[in-house]
Amino acid sequence: MLFVKKNEDIMILKLGGSLITSKNEPFSLRKEIIQNSINEIIRSNKKLIIVHGGGSFGHPIAQEYEISRGRKNSIENQIFGLSKTHEVMVQLNSYIIQKFLEQKIPTLSIQTSSIFINNNGEVFCNLDAIKQCLKLGILPVVYGDIIFSLDGNFSILSGDKIILLLCQNLKEFNINKVIFAFEEDGIYLYNKSKDKIEVVEEINCNDIGSLPLANLGKKIDVTGGIKGKLDNIKSICTLNIPVQIINGLVEGNIFKALNNEKLKCTNIKIPS
Ligand code: IPE
Repeated sequence: MLFVKKNEDIMILKLGGSLITSKNEPFSLRKEIIQNSINEIIRSNKKLIIVHGGGSFGHPIAQEYEISRGRKNSIENQIFGLSKTHEVMVQLNSYIIQKFLEQKIPTLSIQTSSIFINNNGEVFCNLDAIKQCLKLGILPVVYGDIIFSLDGNFSILSGDKIILLLCQNLKEFNINKVIFAFEEDGIYLYNKSKDKIEVVEEINCNDIGSLPLANLGKKIDVTGGIKGKLDNIKSICTLNIPVQIINGLVEGNIFKALNNEKLKCTNIKIPS
């Protein structure tokens, strides 16, 4: 009989959209980076859930049709834009799934917009498919996507928010770490005494709201930028799950993070 030990350890890895796509050019995959990331994930041989972002696939279309602001009659063809946003995310997701399958790794695409639904601002989910994947040794790959509301509205559900929802709802698994792989070494803070910005090695979860965040430039982001990401991270940490923010461009980092080896990054400490 197939069964999973209660509290089996798993990790969640976010492959940021800015890591796996080139944000400056619509629909451009960073194929070598995706391949390296996948190789490291496979080499680590860890039980995990992958969540990936939208980058230059989801964000430009979602922005063009203002999907994250919900239904607006003033936006021409917005409902078409809703479908299109989902479709480009499926394209990005399929590429990633394909790369795992090429290496004979059982991997399954989990369609976000079918398992999450918004009701009056609260997101409900049915995670049975993800649980069954984990039980069968299949790697579930979820992605930022559109989300429907029961009142006929819609919005965008970011990969980061999905991770929080997974952490809140996958009770029979012990999520022992969430890793965010971006294209920076971690969180940059402004160090007043040195008058320069630098990556901080460790952040206390409770300090997240009051950090002197450095602005690293403007990129198209319909889901809240670094501030929004940190708010989510704070919520994840308050569930007693440590978070690590790593640079996925540096070869070996994803492998090291999955194996709990030391690396240059930002660690968010859970409240003591
Ligand atoms: C956005 O997901 C998904 C869409 C725009 C449809 P994320 O917010 O997780 O994407 P990244 O990682 O910031 O690109």
